[in-house]
Amino acid sequence: MTRRAVVIGAGHYLPERIVENAEFEATLDTSDEWIRSRSGIERRHFAAEGETTSNMATRAAEAALKAAGRTVEDVDAIVVATSTADLTFPSAATMVQSQLGMTRGFAFDVQAVCAGFVYALANANALIASGQADRVLVIGAETFSRIMDWTDRSTCVLFGDGAGALLLEAQEGAGTSEDRGILATDLNSDGRYKDLLYVDGGVSTQSTGYLRMQGNQVFRHAVEKLASTATTALTRAGVSSEDVDWIVPHQANIRIIQGTAKKMGLPMDKVVVTVQDHGNTSAASIPLALSVGVERGQIKPGDLVVTEAIGGGLAWGAVVLRW
Ligand code: ACO
Repeated sequence: MTRRAVVIGAGHYLPERIVENAEFEATLDTSDEWIRSRSGIERRHFAAEGETTSNMATRAAEAALKAAGRTVEDVDAIVVATSTADLTFPSAATMVQSQLGMTRGFAFDVQAVCAGFVYALANANALIASGQADRVLVIGAETFSRIMDWTDRSTCVLFGDGAGALLLEAQEGAGTSEDRGILATDLNSDGRYKDLLYVDGGVSTQSTGYLRMQGNQVFRHAVEKLASTATTALTRAGVSSEDVDWIVPHQANIRIIQGTAKKMGLPMDKVVVTVQDHGNTSAASIPLALSVGVERGQIKPGDLVVTEAIGGGLAWGAVVLRW
């Protein structure tokens, strides 16, 4: 028998305010047509004044708990993937812990930018597989609107805010690829590419900073690295791309999503796409897409799902799981 981390609930939260592409036309030399054709993005949500990453993460976690039919008493650990925590410390995860009214267990953040949720899932899987926790809330939550340079048209039209969460539970499997739960993970990073995507501020430079990105350079790495990490994780899981029911990619750009699916030999009707409505929500994009995919009736129990993401670092990775 093999201890598996099985998804028993998914949930998400999006801030109320929706900003259509056309709104940017008033302040920037851009157009709905440019944003749509280059990125696939049509609209995004922005957090309200005073609404924070931990607030949104808590709402997503509550939705995941409700979907699983569990309460916070059942949770042993919380892992929050974010690059936009409320404060430098304590972690957003401990803030979520207190907002949920959870007074036991442990909570911590994972920071791997847009690959953050994949990293958080891999960590939660290790906690469950090693017996340190039976149930783990894994959350991706971001307020990227707070690190946008609103005069930089090449970045500020691409990002959005939101949160998504999964509740993972330890269950015994047979040790085969037919088991439900996380079957394989693959994580990578290469710090030589720091200058392609970064925030030009931080604690030790005593500033918050703004996101800076050489988008076309990141694009060049994306399809190749995403297809490669997904294929590695599939091989590790003992399955092939023909077995995949759903790719749930990081939602940065429809052209990257299409390119990766093509490279993996999979049609777009096997891909969950939310980039048009959410923009790039960094670490929140995969759990948001998973939750929306379930809500739409796309992802069903027993489906083989592969998630893949790349972001600042560069950091990238993939997780293969049976829903
Ligand atoms: N409106 C109009 N024109 C624009 C805009 C805009 N909003 N932004 C840039 N342009 C212009 C540029 O100035 C450039 O003009 P020039 O040719 O006169 O210099 C032209 O459009 C083309 O710019 P490119 O950057 O080459 O355009 P590209 O087709 O590469 O699309 C994009 C840009 C959408 C950013 C794309 O490169 C991309 O999606 N990259 C990957 C982003 C990504 O995946 N990031 C990783 C995750 S994010 C994270 O980790 C936080």
